[in-house]
Amino acid sequence: MTLDRHTVIDRLRTVKGPDQEGDIVSLGLVSEIFIADGKVFFSVTVPANRAEELESLRQAAEAAVRSIPGVKGAMVALTAEKQGGGMGTAPQRPKPAPARPAAAHPVAGSQAGQQPAKADVPGIKAIVAVASGKGGVGKSTTAVNLALGLKALGLKVGILDADIYGPSMPRLLGIKGKPQTADGKTLKPMEAYGLKVMSMGFLVDEDTPMIWRGPMVVSALRQMLRDVAWGELDVLVVDMPPGTGDVQLTMAQQVPLAGAVIVSTPQDLALIDARKGLNMFKRVDVPLLGIVENMSYFVAPDTGKRYDIFGHGGAKAEAERLGVPFLGEVPLTMDVRETSDAGTPVVAANPDGAQAIVYRAIAEKVMSEMGSAMTAAAEDAPKIVFD
Ligand SMILES: Nc1ncnc2c1ncn2[C@@H]1O[C@H](COP(=O)(O)OP(=O)(O)OP(=O)(O)O)[C@@H](O)[C@H]1O
Ligand SMILES: [Mg+2]
Repeated sequence: MTLDRHTVIDRLRTVKGPDQEGDIVSLGLVSEIFIADGKVFFSVTVPANRAEELESLRQAAEAAVRSIPGVKGAMVALTAEKQGGGMGTAPQRPKPAPARPAAAHPVAGSQAGQQPAKADVPGIKAIVAVASGKGGVGKSTTAVNLALGLKALGLKVGILDADIYGPSMPRLLGIKGKPQTADGKTLKPMEAYGLKVMSMGFLVDEDTPMIWRGPMVVSALRQMLRDVAWGELDVLVVDMPPGTGDVQLTMAQQVPLAGAVIVSTPQDLALIDARKGLNMFKRVDVPLLGIVENMSYFVAPDTGKRYDIFGHGGAKAEAERLGVPFLGEVPLTMDVRETSDAGTPVVAANPDGAQAIVYRAIAEKVMSEMGSAMTAAAEDAPKIVFD
């Protein structure tokens, strides 16, 4: 049996619709289907207000496709139903726009004396969190490539993997071994591709199940921040754990953040989660540096042709509506996934490639959003040039 769209569609006829009536194909809910290298990509349209409830439908569709012989992977996204008004129509708005005025310069706000209580980390000029409302949208991938992009701009950069439940940096950066201590009190960070790196993954075995309670997570984070010999850094990028629960909120509060970058996938549904992420940082007065739309569109590996199967553009529209800078669109490409799995992030593996260019442009925007804060925080940093 050859793997083609018809095979996929036939299999998807076994997946029941949202109300257990009919099937998702007959109901017209399945988007264009794209197949590349044995991997299948498509989206399923569902009403926005039933997103969480219908996660099981998404999983069922993914499982159905994965069970087809020859399928090496499947990626299914839920896309919100769009009626008339298009993106961001009124019923999908759980909350009104933020208190921050439209087109505010978030960083400028932070200089006006917010977060006075948090002690700075000596030697680190700016700490930037990469976060999202929900898991699996590409935070860690964005964090590592943003860090490499910032480094490519001439900055001294570190990366702190704050995802204590599911650390990613050892794998993404291909780092093995344990950090050493220089003086018995502080740990020396690991290094890869010119980045200083610290992750709970270095300290705990990958197979060890980690059941951390909230307070322990926070103290572990504090140690990774303050008991590590980071040296002089222009930027420390923090890869946050998914979600917007108490642990994340406390982390956002504990770390003296210069700002936060929110990663979202394009669908309206993910954007609802992204808004949760935005709100979390707002609650603790952390400036929003902007939103990255990850898996924005799909680039076919064979033809290089672009497909908008995931409803590209949603994050940009949302960023505009919220008055938060839009930092860029990262396409879904095999390169990004494969280089990540191989421990050679795409910005390092192929610095002249299309993806690296996208990430460097995002890094430049992040830098310019941080601009005033960084110059204020570090008047002795002559080599940082902002355009
Ligand atoms: N632009 C992209 N193109 C292709 N694959 C991608 C892209 N971004 C992320 N991925 C893949 O999607 C998966 C999830 O990415 P990642 O681990 O970065 O997400 P995350 O938000 O950090 O997840 P978690 O919430 O579990 O920490 C990974 O397999 C990654 O390689
Ligand atoms: Mg992650």
